Amino acid sequence: MSRSGKTDPVLRGFYKKTRGERLDALKAACSVPIDQLRVLSQDASLSFDLANLFIENALGSHPLPLGVVTNLQINDKNYVVPFAVEESSVIAAASNASKWVMESGGFHAECLGREMIGQIQILDLDPNEFENAAAKIKLATVDLIDFANLVHPRLRMRGGGTRSIEIRSFPKAEIPFMVVHVHLDPKEAMGANLVNTVCEKLAPKIQEIVGGRIGLRILSNLADRRLFRVRCEVDFKQLEINDAEFQLSGLEVAKRIHEAYVFAKNDSYRATTHNKGIMNGIDPVVIATGNDWRAVEAGAHAFAARNGHYESLSKWTVDTANEVLKGELLLPLQLGTVGGITRLHPTSKAALQILGNPSSEELSMICLSCGLASNLAALRALVTTGIQRGHMKLHAKNLALAAGAKPDEVEQVAMELVINQNVSASAAESLIQSLREKSKTRVDAPNNSHEL
Ligand code: MEV
Repeated sequence: MSRSGKTDPVLRGFYKKTRGERLDALKAACSVPIDQLRVLSQDASLSFDLANLFIENALGSHPLPLGVVTNLQINDKNYVVPFAVEESSVIAAASNASKWVMESGGFHAECLGREMIGQIQILDLDPNEFENAAAKIKLATVDLIDFANLVHPRLRMRGGGTRSIEIRSFPKAEIPFMVVHVHLDPKEAMGANLVNTVCEKLAPKIQEIVGGRIGLRILSNLADRRLFRVRCEVDFKQLEINDAEFQLSGLEVAKRIHEAYVFAKNDSYRATTHNKGIMNGIDPVVIATGNDWRAVEAGAHAFAARNGHYESLSKWTVDTANEVLKGELLLPLQLGTVGGITRLHPTSKAALQILGNPSSEELSMICLSCGLASNLAALRALVTTGIQRGHMKLHAKNLALAAGAKPDEVEQVAMELVINQNVSASAAESLIQSLREKSKTRVDAPNNSHEL
């Protein structure tokens, strides 16, 4: 494993920079063109005209904060990753964990398949006929695939297209039915439209072969033929905690993270929260790049239940001989870098540019690595200090804002809320009041300097 991981010096201390300095650093580190930096520096970058084209009954847009995760290294390449997310601490957590992993050799990701699945349902056949119908479809497979590929000749020319067909039967369902699965490589697209069109065109051909009645013709968001895997090894020394309140060795933290994984593997109640922590790192990138996060979420959770009960999507084990914690995440991802709004939404375009205009495959590996980083950060906090210590610092800022603090008062109010261990709305209100009284007293105080 390479140990080359180093944060880009221009990105170091990113969180301490002003907005202008952050944009400058981004320009230097990711070659973001000036027009896209301009988009990022505007507070509302989706025009009503575009919003009105994207959806029906448009009123405006609903902005989310957009920030970046630094320190992510995958397959020896460094990334700055745009996150669109409303939850405080998500970006800080993913950046911290990415740094531990970067210092330990980085993430290693791979694509295990590229195909989307389309489903064509066949009804009104006698279950006794299912075997015969399946045999007829199998016999016609080559013709059906050739026909499907005529539907999208340009996709075929780009090396994508329909690859294979699979038949599934549900003879014991309340209404018995068969399903033909169409496997299609959509190349750089998410693929929903490509797959749905093929299913609609292919359905009458299938009906000609087997009779019956065609039901639904639609993609499956359980995209388990478009699978990605990411692995990392985290040196124990990156995990140790040694501050005034907590002291724990890296080995002890690693063992506890393994225990937390066993909890999530066996208990669906814990697995749901564990996997939410993984999606904390995936959804923000999916959203920032203009992709369909509902599809990604649905696919991830269905995949988590593939063994008959809902379980942890990631796996964490301890390698004491090599003094590392080993992490792995396997997930279906259905992401496009063309099509949909990816190239139309100004911030999505800028987000893809920050990532170096990756392929769909590379974007999926980035999302996956951010997912594993977020999971690692959450677990390390949960097995040591608890999640609230870090959360509270950031939550305090939101509380201060909600209680009426002005931007230049927020830091101070938030800090005092945490120090006083009373992070509440009423405490924020009285702190704001006393801060203002103090500054009023300072302004009102006579300037006696001339008397000195
Ligand atoms: C909070 O957004 C995510 C966590 O609850 C994830 C977890 O429990 O693993 C901290």
